[in-house]
Amino acid sequence: MKSSLFVLSALLLVGSASAQLKPEEMIQFRQAGYKTMAWNMGKIKAQTDAPADKFDKTLTLNAALAIKGVANSGMGALYGPGTDTKTASIKTRALPDLFDPKNFDERNKIGKNFGEQANKLADVAAGGDQKAIQAQFGELGKACKACHDKFREEEKK
Ligand code: HEC
Repeated sequence: MKSSLFVLSALLLVGSASAQLKPEEMIQFRQAGYKTMAWNMGKIKAQTDAPADKFDKTLTLNAALAIKGVANSGMGALYGPGTDTKTASIKTRALPDLFDPKNFDERNKIGKNFGEQANKLADVAAGGDQKAIQAQFGELGKACKACHDKFREEEKK
């Protein structure tokens, strides 16, 4: 009895966390997602730059899988109303263009390509070929940049 009540309340918590995030929470979660991907991109870069005999295949695969997981986690849901640079109550670099329906085709195209490149990096990393991973890492980096160039505010110095 006690334990089923616990499970129920835990489920309710999870339910409210995913269904009704506050705008500030959406911003924090997406920034955390991007940071996590950037951390893992850095690890892969270090490995693909390393001499072949120092290349750590397992570390590289795990980093690629972490990126794949974040990339497929449905981050689009974290771009709700009140989360752009004009309307947010906390700092964000998500430009209003990203929220404008007239840009949704382009946004979806960029987002889809990003997901495909992240999935492909995980596949290539599973193969363990350092050169092939380096090439696909470059493709994923381009997919990240395509979105930043269009939809992310430049960092203010
Ligand atoms: C669909 C568009 C899109 C894609 C794809 C994308 N980003 Fe971003 N990224 C953004 C936006 C928008 C922000 C600003 C988020 C905010 O401040 O709320 C951002 C912010 C970031 C940040 C700063 C996070 C912070 O703490 O403020 C980093 C780092 C980053 N992205 C890295 C990446 C990497 C690495 C990839 C690819 C593996 C990637 N992004 C793919 C749109 C994208």
